Amino acid sequence: MLVSATEMLQKAAAGKYAVGQFNINNLEWTKSVLLTAQELNSPVILGVSEGAGKYMTGFKTVAAMVKAMIEELNITVPVALHLDHGTYEGSKKCIEAGFSSIMFDGSHLPFDENVEKSKELIALAHSKGISIECEVGAIGGEEDGVVGKGECADPNECKKIADLGVDMLAAGIGNIHGKYPANWEGLSFETLAAIKELTKEMPLVLHGGTGIPADQIKKAISLGVAKINVNTECQLSFAEATRKYIEAGKDLEGKGFDPRKLLAPGAEAIKATVKEKMELFGSVGKAN
Ligand code: 13P
Repeated sequence: MLVSATEMLQKAAAGKYAVGQFNINNLEWTKSVLLTAQELNSPVILGVSEGAGKYMTGFKTVAAMVKAMIEELNITVPVALHLDHGTYEGSKKCIEAGFSSIMFDGSHLPFDENVEKSKELIALAHSKGISIECEVGAIGGEEDGVVGKGECADPNECKKIADLGVDMLAAGIGNIHGKYPANWEGLSFETLAAIKELTKEMPLVLHGGTGIPADQIKKAISLGVAKINVNTECQLSFAEATRKYIEAGKDLEGKGFDPRKLLAPGAEAIKATVKEKMELFGSVGKAN
């Protein structure tokens, strides 16, 4: 069932668990995530970055594929199709393309401009029943080989964006995208607690879910995180399983070169990663 992320995240925040956002790249990815969510009776968010949308030939293709797959696979758990780190233009495109949720990432803009654009997109998204995430405090990550330290958002700025009526709020708390460097200092729970104190019931979003130790994930959930984004970890699992298949020479045996066989171990590996995360986040059995 394709729905906005609003209700599933309000329930998660109230029930002290988190819904996973798993980024998708193609049909296999989407199928693996949807089947796992259904099997575990868990709500789920499919994340689509602008790059992934472009790769899949456009947001309309993605929306059509996801809607049809939900129907053909009889997926009855709540599924949100969510733009990840959208630009202002990308957010508008996804609203038109039939996404049920968007993220506008104005964290790199001067704060007043972030507020203005967030306000406009919140009104537009809500007029169509679509949920919206906004961001304060840029989330670092590896870019051109340079690993940035995760920023910590200003709690007062978080409150200002939360008060605009956003459905979920992403705030930097020392987290970064991709693999964490060995000298990473961990999440800033002081920042998270200060944000929670001011934003009250607001479901908070933790980006960069890959590689955060389980105890820090659990503590973040206890302090108000209700959505956790995972991307790189599924990519690593997929790549590892695919490499093993090729290295074992299986593509050279019989019809092992058939893409449906070649991509199967990777698709199974994604399922295993998604299952592990849903169990850790506590969303298993929370679909109803
Ligand atoms: P990772 O790739 O580190 O899991 O981060 C995912 C993410 O936050 C997408 O917005």
